[in-house]
Amino acid sequence: MQSFDEIRDYAKNVLSQKRFLHTLSVADEAKELALLWGADCEKAYFAALLHDIAKEIPFEESKEILKKAGLPTDFIRPLIHGPVAAYMAREKFGICDEDILNAIRYHSTGRTGMSVLEKIIFVADFTEPNRLYTDSKEVRELSRKDLDAAMLLQCDRCIKFLIDTGKIVNTLTVDLRNSLIKQQKRGKDK
Ligand SMILES: [Fe+2]
Ligand SMILES: [Fe+2]
Repeated sequence: MQSFDEIRDYAKNVLSQKRFLHTLSVADEAKELALLWGADCEKAYFAALLHDIAKEIPFEESKEILKKAGLPTDFIRPLIHGPVAAYMAREKFGICDEDILNAIRYHSTGRTGMSVLEKIIFVADFTEPNRLYTDSKEVRELSRKDLDAAMLLQCDRCIKFLIDTGKIVNTLTVDLRNSLIKQQKRGKDK
C-alpha cells in the first residue's frame, strides 16, 4: 500500500488545484468526523484522499477502465468517478480494505446499510469548509451532533436540487433516504 504522501502527490498531479484543495479539505473533515464518531482516522484520511482521484478522467475512458476490469459500466457521467476511483485505489495504490473501497465507491450516491466510515466520507464530501452553500453549513453543524440526521438532511437537499434542476436521482440515494427515515421513525416509536 502506498503512503499518504505518495497518494497526496498523485492527487496533486492529476487534479485541478480547486479539486485538489477540495480533496485535502475532505480529508481534514473526514479525520475530524472519524475522531468524533469512533471510526479509524487513518482509513478516513486514505478514503478521502482517493475519493475524487478519477474525477477528471474523461467519461469514455472511465467506462473503458471499468469494462476492462469486468465491472459494471452503466453509470451516468457525474457518478462514474466513484467506482473508477475504488478500482484504482485497489489496483494502483494497493488498498485492499473493503471499507475504504466502499467509502470511495459510494461517496456520491450513498447506499443503505453504510458503515460509519462510508457515512463519514459521504458527509465530509458535502460539508468540507470550501463548500460555501448554506445547505452544506447546515449539514456540517448537524454532523457534529447526529451523523444519521446529517445524512438525511444531505439526501433531502441533494435530491431536491436534482429534481429542481431536472437531473437524474440515483436510486441508491433514494433508498438511503428512505432507510434513514424508517430508522428515525423506529427511534421515535421506542
Ligand atoms: Fe466525488
Ligand atoms: Fe469530492
